Amino acid sequence: MKSTLVASLLAIATSTALAQYTNQTAPFNLVVLSKNETYNGTTLLACHEGAGIEGLCLTSTLTGTGLTGSTFNFNTSTYGQYNLNPAIGEQGYLTYLLRGGNFNESEAFSLYYSATSNVALPLFEGTQGTLVAFDEHNLLNIQGYVDDRLPPPYNGTFTAYYRWYACQTYFTGYTYTTLAWVTGKYHPQNPTCEKVKVKRVFI
Ligand SMILES: *[C@@H]1O[C@H](CO)[C@@H](O)[C@H](O)[C@H]1NC(C)=O
Ligand SMILES: *[C@@H]1O[C@H](CO)[C@@H](O)[C@H](O)[C@H]1NC(C)=O
Ligand SMILES: *[C@@H]1O[C@H](CO)[C@@H](O)[C@H](O)[C@H]1NC(C)=O
Ligand SMILES: *[C@@H]1O[C@H](CO)[C@@H](O)[C@H](O)[C@H]1NC(C)=O
Ligand SMILES: *[C@@H]1O[C@H](CO)[C@@H](O)[C@H](O)[C@H]1NC(C)=O
Ligand SMILES: *[C@@H]1O[C@H](CO)[C@@H](O)[C@H](O)[C@H]1NC(C)=O
Repeated sequence: MKSTLVASLLAIATSTALAQYTNQTAPFNLVVLSKNETYNGTTLLACHEGAGIEGLCLTSTLTGTGLTGSTFNFNTSTYGQYNLNPAIGEQGYLTYLLRGGNFNESEAFSLYYSATSNVALPLFEGTQGTLVAFDEHNLLNIQGYVDDRLPPPYNGTFTAYYRWYACQTYFTGYTYTTLAWVTGKYHPQNPTCEKVKVKRVFI
């Protein structure tokens, strides 16, 4: 029994490691939509949060002239087309090309979780990320097939969640107004968070 479980876990780990997200869409900007006029219509900009690490800042909240939103890509794989629901979209990596002096690195969006907050930070670092999707209205979502609000927790059908907020966040010395993700169904514990949606607009 035990060895069968270990073997099947190994099989899952191997197939996940083999999934390559290298089929890249046309470039686009990410636009924030919100009932709060302070943020509605602003673009997201990859902002420095550490060596080779970028967060997603709201352009309108940064000081500096001529700032425009960053260009992003969406990387997909044939793996993401399995059981695809086109209404909520194919899952893949949101990517940002970090340009160094003598190198370029395509980094994948990933969520950085805190053990002491329900607000998670989107960061671009490394080549492995958190799977996201764009629905039929080009809205960014994260999908899950486990819903622990209803027993039994396993559902098996992917549902899209849109738990995006704009919040004052802190990471390794940097405080900005960034995009953030709230884990679970409750309100963000960070009182600066304002509900937003994120829309893909092709360039
Ligand atoms: C995204 O796809 C491009 C084109 O295949 C590839 O060069 C890049 O490394 C990929 N990025 C990630 C994070 O997988
Ligand atoms: C947000 O912006 C969009 C387009 O830029 C506009 O259609 C919408 O009315 C705005 N919403 C609010 C609440 O201002
Ligand atoms: C919009 O967001 C800003 C920044 O968090 C906040 O100061 C302001 O009160 C909000 N406006 C409304 C109408 O909620
Ligand atoms: C890449 O995406 C295009 C457009 O959706 C599709 O036609 C093609 O089959 C995909 N290729 C792979 C290897 O997934
Ligand atoms: C990095 O990417 C840019 C734009 O795609 C390109 O112009 C530049 O030559 C690349 N630099 C390197 C070191 O590959
Ligand atoms: C999965 O969730 C959907 C939407 O809430 C629900 O309609 C469906 O019955 C659930 N399926 C299972 C197996 O729990």
